[in-house]
Amino acid sequence: MYYLNNKIENLVRIFDQNERKGYLRLDLNENPGGLPQDFINKVLEGITPEFVAQYPETLQFTEVLAKHLNTDKNHICLTNGSAEAIRYVIQAFTSDNGRIVGVVPSYFMFQVYSEMYGRNFVKVPYEEDLSMNVDNIIKELTPETELLILLNPNNPMGNVYTDEEFEKIMISARANKITVLIDEAYHYFYPRTFINYALNEEHVFVTRTFSKLFSMAGCRLGYVAGWSEGVKMVQKLCTPHNTNAFAMRFAEAVLTTPGMLDSLISNFNNGRNYLIKFLDANYYPHKGDAGNFIFIKPKTDAQKLVDRMKTEKKILIKAYPNVGKFGNCLRVSIGEEKYMKFFTEALLELDRLEEN
Ligand SMILES: Cc1ncc(COP(=O)(O)O)c(C=O)c1O
Repeated sequence: MYYLNNKIENLVRIFDQNERKGYLRLDLNENPGGLPQDFINKVLEGITPEFVAQYPETLQFTEVLAKHLNTDKNHICLTNGSAEAIRYVIQAFTSDNGRIVGVVPSYFMFQVYSEMYGRNFVKVPYEEDLSMNVDNIIKELTPETELLILLNPNNPMGNVYTDEEFEKIMISARANKITVLIDEAYHYFYPRTFINYALNEEHVFVTRTFSKLFSMAGCRLGYVAGWSEGVKMVQKLCTPHNTNAFAMRFAEAVLTTPGMLDSLISNFNNGRNYLIKFLDANYYPHKGDAGNFIFIKPKTDAQKLVDRMKTEKKILIKAYPNVGKFGNCLRVSIGEEKYMKFFTEALLELDRLEEN
């Protein structure tokens, strides 16, 4: 009997991210400059035919990562990008029609996976001023809720939680026996982390990625950290040899090369400071710079600006319609200062109100 899973048939996915070659890509929160070329060359020097021929071994890198996180390897499962880790946490810790609570707008894959598995995703919206009232999250934490998804910081809003706010949410999650998934894809751009919850108590996970500050989105590597039995559940769902040998080699080199992480952070900070100074000087309202992206309210139509940036300036950025009191706005990835200069020059030229 032929069978088509109608949950998959009806699923809406976006497959428009190819053909970006030749553009300055500020639309997917990658690092436009990437890792230094000499560093890349050095890492590739050690690649042998055997290295390419053999299935990847995860033990060595998992131990390096565990040391970096000050934990034990049993608390980590490596995944093919953190998107994979998120998918498996949803699959393993929620049931058919299970109730998942998450903030919106947010990283869209939370809703995609929820639909894929037939879960019930309950949305907690941001306020008009784009802040998040944590009491609105707590109100949704019922005993039937199986999973709460939080982001620290959130994409695309850039919101973060204070320690007190986070603990208040956790008290309610524990009382209602709700597994908590904290997406820290943008950790390092914003240093406060809640990973200690994941490493020290049960039913809390943190997912992180090497795609953002580590500048390795093309390699696909992420991980989930949590209590060891929970992590084992995620591991069981992974396809065999899901993590790429090149990715682990690059990630290990970034973690063990003295000064590499600091230099990535400082290049990023210079770019961020440059951009914010420009936006303030030119009266652009902006919001949410805790990740490697920022919301900007343009003076003219956001979508038209996105289209013109693409065709006239070869710069890719993203438009977000109806974002609270910001209305229609742009989300722009932040990178090194030279890329921010390209972007700000283009913005000055294209985002002009018609003069009467
Ligand atoms: C909030 C958030 N989580 C997770 C991801 C997935 O990243 P990756 O699968 O590259 O690790 C992204 C990607 O943009 C993101 O914005």
